[in-house]
Amino acid sequence: MPATPPQTPAKEAHPVSGVPLIDEPIALFKPFHGQEEIDAVAEVIRSGWWGNGPKTVAFEEAFAAFVGARYGVSTNSATAALHLALTVADVAGGEVLTTPITFVSTNHVILLNNATPVFCDVERDTLNIDPDDIARKVTPRTKAIVCVHYGGHPCDMERIHAIAKAHNLIVIEDAAHAAGSRYKDQPIGSLSPLTCFSFHPVKNLATGDGGMVTLDNPEWRDRLNRLRWVGINKNTWQRSDGQDSSKYSWEYGVDEIGYKYHSNDLMSAIALVQLGRLPDTNARRRAICTMYDEGLAGLGWLETPVEKDYAFSARHNYVIKTRQRDKLADWLKEHRIASGMHYIPNHLYPMYKPYVSAPLPVTESVWLELLTLPLHPNLSDDDVAYIIDVIRRFPYA
Ligand SMILES: Cc1ncc(COP(=O)(O)O)c(C=O)c1O
Repeated sequence: MPATPPQTPAKEAHPVSGVPLIDEPIALFKPFHGQEEIDAVAEVIRSGWWGNGPKTVAFEEAFAAFVGARYGVSTNSATAALHLALTVADVAGGEVLTTPITFVSTNHVILLNNATPVFCDVERDTLNIDPDDIARKVTPRTKAIVCVHYGGHPCDMERIHAIAKAHNLIVIEDAAHAAGSRYKDQPIGSLSPLTCFSFHPVKNLATGDGGMVTLDNPEWRDRLNRLRWVGINKNTWQRSDGQDSSKYSWEYGVDEIGYKYHSNDLMSAIALVQLGRLPDTNARRRAICTMYDEGLAGLGWLETPVEKDYAFSARHNYVIKTRQRDKLADWLKEHRIASGMHYIPNHLYPMYKPYVSAPLPVTESVWLELLTLPLHPNLSDDDVAYIIDVIRRFPYA
């Protein structure tokens, strides 16, 4: 008898959609790396200088040049960067106009600086802070505006700067999602007095964690340098002579209370490689978004994200809007596709209730429709085609 050929088991199909399920689940976010990041970390480990040193200085200079700012001050997160940016902006005792649709760090740092967050509504299409509501909520106590470039889509900066100028307010940009974004062809990071970036593992430029303030003001740069390292006015690298450890000088001054917020050369070595990759990885994100836009077009029950004329988004998130958000999230999960929701409006957290002065009608309705789809450079065209197919088969009723 001839031998029976081995049978490949039929792929399990979803009972309703009939779609054969994928073997490997699709992640929502995933850092992208090559051998270069591993080599760069190995080099730092061998160098013996793991702390804040030459790689960190090199990354600060390269990132500041990339965004067109004079200085970059690195930190161990964007939360730390925002905390210190609001400190040098001297917001204590005043009001800070802010968005509710953000990661809580944006608003926690206002409270950490002994200031009062005043929530403004968002634009329904971009989900960014609405300049009209900013204008309505300025008071004599307002000191600053914090704006978040949601998903990488720049806020309407000309209008925000016009309000800031009229009322003498400092603009601080939360650019956690916006490494590589541009507003009217100017890079985010070069537009406002202080801009804060995140290099958390799911961000476009990922280092494991990390952040950066970009700015032009040398006094603020010096103060940020001190505040990020417990108030000390000369870091260890500045007190050493390159790799000649015999020239180490132990003396430093302490000018004020600071934090343990500085970065290190292990993270900065990864960051330098990731910065070199950023044009390609952001281009891949953009290509995936175009596939989504085209593949999901024409579904009356779903809205795809916009990109305004003034905007070039780094495409950190791909967020759709649908009234059946939770059912669609379950449907995706059944097909082994992760999805997310960014963000629960911060003013709805009980701890922020004391700061809610007026209803935020757009925020309070739109967030119920938001669903974040997988977006990262590791996704293959087949992955994206599978996600589109699964969404198109969703039994919206
Ligand atoms: C809009 C926004 N702001 C700030 C942060 C804080 O960034 P980090 O995790 O680097 O502190 C995040 C992180 O997810 C964010 O999405």
